[in-house]
Parts: sequence; structure tokens; C-alpha cells
Amino acid sequence: MKNITLVVGARPNFVKASSLCAAVARRPALRLRLVHTGQHYDDNMAGVFFRELGVPEPAVNLGVGSGTQSWQIANTILELERELLSNRPDVLMTVGDVNATLAASIVGSKLGISLAHVEAGLRSWDRRMSEEGNRVVADALSDVLFTTSADADENLLKEGIPAHRIVRVGNVMVDTLLRFRSEARTLAVRESLGIADSNYGIVTLHRAETVDDSSVLKGVIEALQEAARELLLIFPVHPRTKARIEASGALPSCANGGNLRLVPPMSYLSFLGLMGGARLVLTDSGGIQAETTILGIPCLTLRDSTEYTITLSHGTNRLAGTTPETILPVFADALKSKFSVDLPPLWDGLASDRIAETLLSLG
Ligand code: UD1
Repeated sequence: MKNITLVVGARPNFVKASSLCAAVARRPALRLRLVHTGQHYDDNMAGVFFRELGVPEPAVNLGVGSGTQSWQIANTILELERELLSNRPDVLMTVGDVNATLAASIVGSKLGISLAHVEAGLRSWDRRMSEEGNRVVADALSDVLFTTSADADENLLKEGIPAHRIVRVGNVMVDTLLRFRSEARTLAVRESLGIADSNYGIVTLHRAETVDDSSVLKGVIEALQEAARELLLIFPVHPRTKARIEASGALPSCANGGNLRLVPPMSYLSFLGLMGGARLVLTDSGGIQAETTILGIPCLTLRDSTEYTITLSHGTNRLAGTTPETILPVFADALKSKFSVDLPPLWDGLASDRIAETLLSLG
């Protein structure tokens, strides 16, 4: 029996944990302990994802919560060390690039536990992004690096990671999307928003680089308001973004009732349903660049760089920057042209099974 502890903390981790937990559960020789750091805690940021996606109840919730990033990481390290000293696994598995990923990688490394990182090797090459530092450290400390695409392998090799540690498996977020696609609530969510057809776009913004700098936020909001003259835009607002919008006065009327409609954060199935029926998505998220590629929906990434470079060559993604001057021409083009899709190899719904098989074969 091999004991695996999977650490999750934030919304995108829960989506990936859904397929990873299911794949591990199908193999009796693997036993999984799920540890939730508590980075995300509101029901609409955490609980609803567990319920909808069948993620097992965590064995423990460390209840770390929000604070400055260093405070959050430090507290996660302290709480997780206690947990791992009491329940030491054979393999500590981390996913993605959030603060929980970084903290778990540090604790696992210090305790000499074998570390496996899922979604290794993605690089935006922009160290101003907190997540980029998290990725680099998690990869440097991990013993097994599960990658999504060939460019990620190359990034790791350039950083001196030995080839024998890299296992290309595909994308676990795609596994979850394909498993739940048929349950997506397109009609229900449209009905609840009073949308009759597919003539709408979706906006998501939450990255610190986009929303914490009020001049960047104002530029993006200005572009969105302009774009909304052409197309109804539905904007599920992350709590960080809601606070920043209110503080900056970037959107005086909060735009409700207008063609840029702010709504609360959505559950996975509702958002998938909304996204599946949209004309396009404008986002600063990483995961949505991958999800829109699978759905064949044009994705305008409101950033100057992406760690999912594969979706620029093999997907529906275009970098649109963060100013009205850069965003609006790409938006206009996306309304007119058809984006072609050539799916990245191994984005086939089987990445989690490949990971579970590799875990079984580890010495
Ligand atoms: C985190 C991740 C980011 C990921 C995102 C997904 C890091 C550095 N960032 O960003 O990579 O894409 O999650 O959503 O790990 N808050 C609530 N309720 C919650 C959680 C957060 O109100 O359940 C508010 C708090 O005010 C908190 C703020 O949101 O301070 C930011 O939360 P935090 O987890 O620090 O970062 P995210 O912006 O969510």
C-alpha cells in the first residue's frame, strides 16, 4: 500500500483534486489523504466545488485563511508540518501554483518526504507574478514533475531538472472538465441571468497584478465598459476583485443593470455552463485559458504573458494586454474571426490516470 497525501488550498486546486482523487480511488494499492490548507474558505470559493465535483471530504482542514502572502505561507507551513509529522505519507502531492503549493513543497522537502508536483514546468517568465515564484520553488524541490505539455518539459530541462524526474501526463483540469461537461448548467445559468441566447461574453479578473494596481484595474475596466457596448459581458467577481473595484471607484455604479453585469462568484458547473455557451471569454486566469481551448471558445487573456503558452499555439487563446489600446482591437477581431483549435497532445481526460499509474510504479 502506498500512502499519498494531496494538499489543496484554493479554488483551482479543488477542480484538479476531483479527477486526481477519483483516479487514485480506482487503484486499491494507493491510499489518499486529502489535506485542505483553508486558503479559500467561503462556500462559493471552496465548499460548492467539493460538493459538485465529488471531491472527498478532506481528512483535515488546516483553517489557515487569508492574510498577507507571507503570513499565509508561514501559517500553512507551521500547520502542515504538524499534520505531516502525525501522518507521514510515502508521497506528498501538490498541484498548481498557489500559496498552498509553495508551502507544502517547502514542508515536504524539509521533512524528506518524496514530493510530486502536478502541473510542473509552466512558466510565464514574469517574476512579478506571485504564482511564478511558487512554480519555480515547487518544481525545484519536487522529485517527480508531472507536466501538461512539451514546452513545460523544456522549461524544466532549462532549469537543470534531470529528465528522469519529468513525466508528461497531460492536463488534470481537462480531465475534470471532460468528466463534468455533460452536467454543465448552461440553460439554468442563462435562465437565472435572463440571457436568451449565446450572444454574450464572460469576464473574470482576480490576479494581484491586474486588480491590486488601481491604474491597471481602471484601464481594464475602461476597456470592458467599451467592449460591453458591443456585447453583453457577464462578470462573476472574485472577492479580491470586488474589494479592489469598490476601493478604487473604477466602476462607479458597479455596472449592474448595464451591459457589463457583475454577479457573485459561480460554482464550477454553473460557470462551465455559462462558458460553454459564450461567444468569448476575457480573463486573467490561467486555468480558463486551458478550459476555453477544450471548449473551442475564443479566450482573450488580459495579461502580457502566459504560463499556458501552449494555448497560444494549440488553443483559442490570444494575449490582449491590460489597456484599452491593446484589449479592444483583439476583442473586435475575436467578434469577427473564427479561432481554430488544434488540441494539445494528451489533453484527453486521462492525465490523472497516468499520474496514478506513475505513483504506483514509484520505488
Ligand atoms: C489565489 C491564488 C491564485 C489563484 C486564485 C484562484 C495565490 C498566490 N494565489 O488567489 O493563483 O488563481 O487563488 O481563485 O495562492 N477571499 C475571500 N474568501 C475566500 C478566499 C479569499 O473573501 O474564500 C478574499 C480575501 O479577502 C483574501 C482575498 O480574497 O484576502 C485573496 O485570497 P487569496 O487566497 O490570498 O488569493 P486569491 O486572489 O484568491
